[in-house]
Amino acid sequence: MPIPPIPEALRREVEKFVESNFDFAFKPEKPAVRLHECTFGADEINAALATMLSTYVTMGDQTRHFEALCSRHFGFQHGIMVNSGSSANLLAVAALTNPASGPLLRAGDEVIVPALSWSTTVWPLIQCGLVPVIIDIDPTTLNLDLNQARQAIGPKTRGIMPVHVYGNPCDMDGLMELADSHNLVVIEDCCEALGALYRGRSVGSFGVVGTFSFYYSHHITTLEGGICHTNDFDLAEVMRILRAHGWVRETQNREIYEKQHAEIDPRFLFVNVGYNLRPTELQASFGPIQLRKLEKFIEVRADNAGFWREAMRPLEKFFRFQEPTPNGRHSWFGFPMVIQPGAPVNPREFRDFLKQNQIENRPLIAGNIARQPALKLFPHRIFGDLKESDLVMSNGFTFGNHQAVDEAARNYVLDTIIKFFKQKRLI
Ligand SMILES: Cc1ncc(COP(=O)(O)O)c(C=O)c1O
Repeated sequence: MPIPPIPEALRREVEKFVESNFDFAFKPEKPAVRLHECTFGADEINAALATMLSTYVTMGDQTRHFEALCSRHFGFQHGIMVNSGSSANLLAVAALTNPASGPLLRAGDEVIVPALSWSTTVWPLIQCGLVPVIIDIDPTTLNLDLNQARQAIGPKTRGIMPVHVYGNPCDMDGLMELADSHNLVVIEDCCEALGALYRGRSVGSFGVVGTFSFYYSHHITTLEGGICHTNDFDLAEVMRILRAHGWVRETQNREIYEKQHAEIDPRFLFVNVGYNLRPTELQASFGPIQLRKLEKFIEVRADNAGFWREAMRPLEKFFRFQEPTPNGRHSWFGFPMVIQPGAPVNPREFRDFLKQNQIENRPLIAGNIARQPALKLFPHRIFGDLKESDLVMSNGFTFGNHQAVDEAARNYVLDTIIKFFKQKRLI
């Protein structure tokens, strides 16, 4: 059911406000480059306001509409929107370990994950009784090292959860070959990689399920939000059930369940356990408008990345850069750099220098997840010395590479980096 538009005067007021207050352009007279700038404008705010004024705010038509749009856009049959990328990971793993899905994974099974991953890449595995096997990354792509993955496979290994780090697609030919030859379930964490492709196909479409995030600082946003994409109808149905209390309400095969349990009020029929991972309609109302902006945003990010990569060639003795995977399209969530081991550059001093010059920066994802105290509380297996992930944790960083970084901003970043090396008399 389409929701009524908001009153014209209100719409215009919002537009006026946004026009005079949302100024995220780089100012040469007061230079600053933040890690992220807002991607939404008056259209998204008005869509959210219209949703509130309609009073239809909890998951409904707008969510279903965005799910259909988003899955079609990226070439999937099903999209199950949730309230965050973390929830998407939890829902995917919970569904795969649920008796209703086979299950494809069972408590005690091992799942390989890269050490350079986010906390809520790994936590859902633990929360669902699986045992993460942490392996190292490839120092060039920063994605999981397939040789290590091959060697890490043991008698209990049943799954692999690649992360497409900073939007760089993993080598999915190699990964799927490995997974197929060992019957591994593949769960793709694409939370940093919206719009990334491998051989022209969206990341997330190679494994059984792909998870995406629409957090505020991601390529596009629904404020908080995420989605699970899959081509597996049965898995999608299980995810629809687990997303909302174990209810049948959102399933496409609802009548079948209702007939099977005719003695129970169909409005309150629980066919499984579940969570409440639902998004709101306000979040869903952002989706279609943001999705239309995605290609342009990726273009700007890729252009900036190409510029910095080329301009910093003379600094290769100091830095390693993330190299795009062959046959992929990188969607450049940031611009990952790693200070070369042994280079005469103190990582903290360098990053502080950027910060003093108003260039925000941050470590890459959560560094080596095996070093985080939380992991030590739960069963897990560490394969190898994880030295590349340790190096990224101590020496890796990114500054902002987003839709608002224009030519002046990227030149400022470059000039500031060069200034550091000149001041140190290193160049
Ligand atoms: C690789 C990865 N997985 C999962 C998440 C979680 O997404 P969210 O912040 O939407 O919960 C993130 C967050 O940025 C991430 O980088």
